[in-house]
Amino acid sequence: MSNNLLKGKRGIIFGALNEQSIAWKVAEQAKAQGATFTLTNAPIAMRMGEIQKLADACEAEVIPADATSVEDIENLISKSMEVLGGKIDFILHSIGMSPNVRKGKPYDGTNYDWYHKTMDVSAMSLHKVLQTAKKMDAINEWGSVVALTYIAAQRVFPDYNDMADAKSLLESITRSFGYHYGEEKKVRVNTISQSPTVTTAGSGVKGFDAFINYAEDMSPLGNASAVDCANYCITLFSDLTKYVTMQNLFHDGGFSSTGVTKKVIDKFS
Ligand SMILES: NC(=O)c1ccc[n+]([C@@H]2O[C@H](COP(=O)([O-])OP(=O)(O)OC[C@H]3O[C@@H](n4cnc5c(N)ncnc54)[C@H](O)[C@@H]3O)[C@@H](O)[C@H]2O)c1
Repeated sequence: MSNNLLKGKRGIIFGALNEQSIAWKVAEQAKAQGATFTLTNAPIAMRMGEIQKLADACEAEVIPADATSVEDIENLISKSMEVLGGKIDFILHSIGMSPNVRKGKPYDGTNYDWYHKTMDVSAMSLHKVLQTAKKMDAINEWGSVVALTYIAAQRVFPDYNDMADAKSLLESITRSFGYHYGEEKKVRVNTISQSPTVTTAGSGVKGFDAFINYAEDMSPLGNASAVDCANYCITLFSDLTKYVTMQNLFHDGGFSSTGVTKKVIDKFS
């Protein structure tokens, strides 16, 4: 269903790797709601080749960029404005990667070079995108930047590892940069804290299968799907949420406010 909520808006969408990616669903919904946008991912992710399928369906150009490289981000933003014919209205930051998680290093045995990489890819990249866009004055007034996060920033989920620290930093950058960008340019910055979702990044976390079932039982509405997350992103890109900024917004079926559910109690009875 389209209400043309994003008609006339131009965007940049980071992080569509394959059909499971949350960013993939956001691109499909943004297209359905009338937006034009560019798609981007790390050059290494291009090798899988799937993003071109999405680009064809969305009539979007793909511009590779490593989100840890300011030079790549500058190129991405200037090319996007050129291709789309003007300044940007929305950006989706849907990026996460931890070498410690990937290589099975526990939190209390972390490899600090990898820890650095986790922070750079998963959190500092948002700062780099915002700082570069602000310097280039690339985002229109009332523009909206959304990054995806997880509740491990507030509570301990042991196997989420150093990604928990990265998400805390990501949410802090959202508040701090949201202040500066809001005051000077009326640009909004928010994070959406999403339910566990079956994707390449999600499934990389140890014990994910059991965990996603636990979250399902601990959420009064059940886990939120990737498509529903995409729909929430669209509302934040739209003009219907103009005064929402510097927030961490839970999109989790009620998980974050729940102490225990009947389903979980029954399992222990
Ligand atoms: N899947 C979940 O359970 C879940 C829950 C809450 C939040 N999130 C967050 O949602 C976001 C998207 O993840 P997803 O679940 O769709 O998984 P995904 O694996 O499909 O997406 C992660 C993306 O990050 C990209 N990426 C990695 N390094 C990069 C770099 N250097 N430069 C540019 N891009 C890079 C990958 O190529 C990939 O496209 C992440 O921030 C993730 O932490 C996921």
